[in-house]
Amino acid sequence: MIQKQKGTRDILPSDSYKWQYIEEKCKKTMQNYGYKEIRIPVFESTELFERGVGDTTDVVQKEMYTFLDKGQRSITLRPEGTAGVVRAYIENGMASLPSPIKMWYAMPMYRYENVQKGRYRELRQIGAEIIGTNSYLADVEMIAMANELIKQFNIPEIVLNINSIGCPKCRQEYQEALKKFIGKNLENYCSTCKERFDKNPMRILDCKEKRCKELNKNAPVILNYLCQECKTHFESVKNSLEQLNIEYVIDSNIVRGLDYYTKTVFEFVSKTENYTVLGGGRYDGLVKELGGQETGAIGFAMGEDRLVDIFDKYNKENIEDIRADLYIATMGENATNVATILANKLRSYNICVETDLCQRSIKASLKYADKINARFSLVLGDEEVKNNVANLKNMETGEQIEVKLNTDDILSIVK
Ligand code: HAM
Repeated sequence: MIQKQKGTRDILPSDSYKWQYIEEKCKKTMQNYGYKEIRIPVFESTELFERGVGDTTDVVQKEMYTFLDKGQRSITLRPEGTAGVVRAYIENGMASLPSPIKMWYAMPMYRYENVQKGRYRELRQIGAEIIGTNSYLADVEMIAMANELIKQFNIPEIVLNINSIGCPKCRQEYQEALKKFIGKNLENYCSTCKERFDKNPMRILDCKEKRCKELNKNAPVILNYLCQECKTHFESVKNSLEQLNIEYVIDSNIVRGLDYYTKTVFEFVSKTENYTVLGGGRYDGLVKELGGQETGAIGFAMGEDRLVDIFDKYNKENIEDIRADLYIATMGENATNVATILANKLRSYNICVETDLCQRSIKASLKYADKINARFSLVLGDEEVKNNVANLKNMETGEQIEVKLNTDDILSIVK
């Protein structure tokens, strides 16, 4: 038997309603803030991610699904959405549209990860990006919207951590101080940290190795190195979050795993599951890096797989799968034809109606209706068709009512 690839999932019909519920709610929330959907290709040129995400990141160095296509072009399945969205922004001349541009997406991403709890190789993200503003107000809106997205799913112990990683100007001074600190003990760090020392020392702070974590304990903190502009920006973000009663924790260790970030970065972390459900931040240099004008931008992405997994754990009773409003069981060709026409008419009133597609006996049909959890059932035979009346049964209470075989009478009970 051919099996699915490691780190991928089948979302089965019995579970897809949970994903739909989350996607619908997120879509509605983001639309309320004025965001519009963007859809971009699953595959892009590898160079986009090398330049956009950064060639010293884990994502680019270790996790990309990269291959040569038949025209010998290096292609990569998108490991994240921001680089592609920015490419689309530049390529489609969106800079000339009224600014800022506010976009959302719900898309699968591909990362060759070590598969474990909450870590997949095909992962779905729901994300949002604002391109075209440097104002701290965009940071506040993004964080407030992310907060609203997560809070509506009734999940316990999710904490918002924020940090500022400054701009290239203040970061330079910080990186020098950091290198001085790490350099004293460099031989004791893991090989990945050693590799990052010259090119991207801040990523060393994100290392999950126990010994590196220990060595990093008294490392200098970026917040003490922010330039005046970055400091004021971060203060304004914090003040506004307080005014909005959004609780946060400052975590100076957040550096984020992708290279494009500047200034505000944030993560919503589940304490019960011990992983990040949503991460994001400002990326003021990315549009220019990818060939556009210097443009302020900020965004986030939520791990939909992670959210669904936790949601499922804590909201079992709260949402319902889609179920048939009415199941019509039939006996004989004539009744089957009448049922098909009646079902089509009823569906045009936006209710879910199912008919027997296996030509089963009435008894077996009603058993099936019970198994699929239909709300009502209707039994049609030659007699019912001739008299234009039939018994409508409430499958939960067992109560039966005689109805005329027209849409109005049936809808008055079923809808
Ligand atoms: P990221 O932190 O790499 O950021 O991913 C965002 C979220 O996607 C994570 O917090 C996590 O919930 C989920 N995620 C990441 N990798 C996996 C995985 N292997 N399995 C399951 N879930 C995963 C980004 O991707 C940025 N593009 C976010 C962003 C948008 N920043 C600015 N705009």
